[in-house]
Amino acid sequence: MLTLDHWAVVRRDFPCTDARVFLNTGTLGPVATPVMERYLAAMRQWNAGGPGSPDGYIGWRNRVETARATLATEFGCGPESLSLFGNVTDAINVVLVGLRLPSDARIITTDEEHGALVGPLTQLAQRGITVDVVPFGQGGPELVARLAAAMDQAPTTLLALSHMSCETGAVFDARALTDAAHRRGVLVMLDGAQTPGQMPLALDAWGMDFYPFNGHKWMGAPAGSGGLYLAPDAAARIALTYTGDGAGWSSGYPAAWTETRPTDGRRFEYGTRNWPAWVAWGDVVAYRAGLPSDPCARQRELAGLLRGTLAAVPGVTVRSPEPLGGIVTVSVDGLAGDRVYQQLLAAGVVGRRVLRPHLDGVRFSVAYFNNEDDLARARAAIAQVAASR
Ligand SMILES: Cc1ncc(COP(=O)(O)O)c(C=O)c1O
Repeated sequence: MLTLDHWAVVRRDFPCTDARVFLNTGTLGPVATPVMERYLAAMRQWNAGGPGSPDGYIGWRNRVETARATLATEFGCGPESLSLFGNVTDAINVVLVGLRLPSDARIITTDEEHGALVGPLTQLAQRGITVDVVPFGQGGPELVARLAAAMDQAPTTLLALSHMSCETGAVFDARALTDAAHRRGVLVMLDGAQTPGQMPLALDAWGMDFYPFNGHKWMGAPAGSGGLYLAPDAAARIALTYTGDGAGWSSGYPAAWTETRPTDGRRFEYGTRNWPAWVAWGDVVAYRAGLPSDPCARQRELAGLLRGTLAAVPGVTVRSPEPLGGIVTVSVDGLAGDRVYQQLLAAGVVGRRVLRPHLDGVRFSVAYFNNEDDLARARAAIAQVAASR
């Protein structure tokens, strides 16, 4: 009871819970009001001081290093392994373009990837690179086995897939997959858009080569919080596509360009950035540490409740495995996911449509600031949609 009361207090930090049943953190999560207030105050302070004053832009750039160290500790790696970007898609492009793959390269991916990965892979396929697709299914050891079998079918250069499916929340053991790939001399890039804030990250221990991730979904950092983890020896293997001041310096064009940190994640950071957003991302870690209990565990518990209650609604089929995070995807028999999504929206329930040839439904993202009342309202709304078929 005590814990419930504490979570009710936490919920007040999320005004988006007032008007509607917000179950779409998997697309973009809200920033808790205390973190947002600090972020906005920082922006105002920066602006008022004259943004181009040295204590302004250099001060903010330096404060990012504190945030980077905080995030590195949180994610189980060293700060030199992290490169900060605006989003996951930037990070994926840096890797896929920077690898300079030859036209006989082969990449294996899955059938549940986001456009952030499908877009760059399509570009590579147009250059003649083979991109093979395996079903993500329910993740777990079966997915690792499917990927291992696919790697054994033909020489493979890279595995590029989501660590957690954005469609169902299915996940797998990153270490097991990395071991299977590295035994075969295959590089691994896992798209971590959905994992930070849904499950603990152990980036060095998992051992993959590249892990794009973001803070603006489940962690609740401001929009524009993205990053890339590079294994200790991986940064130097990526050719620079975009670069410029900050990543290096020049004492005279064209001969004397010197990279500041050629083997470090920061090698990919250059130019002016919205540094306070990354500083706020570091603040988020402290905010989450002050929550009444582990937010990942609460999300998992609430998502498990939602999954159970929706499974009992006639005409509703659950498409997600038992949740390891906060995602629960369902379909309504005989109804297109888009229709279900629209009807839920009209009833004040914000989910996200899932439109795949093998999966036509609606995804609910249950965050720690949601509560049992949200789940009951989502259940009532979907029961009404199913009953009106
Ligand atoms: C699996 C996956 N990859 C990539 C993205 C894109 O993330 P970003 O907007 O940070 O580039 C998303 C967003 O929904 C996602 O779910």
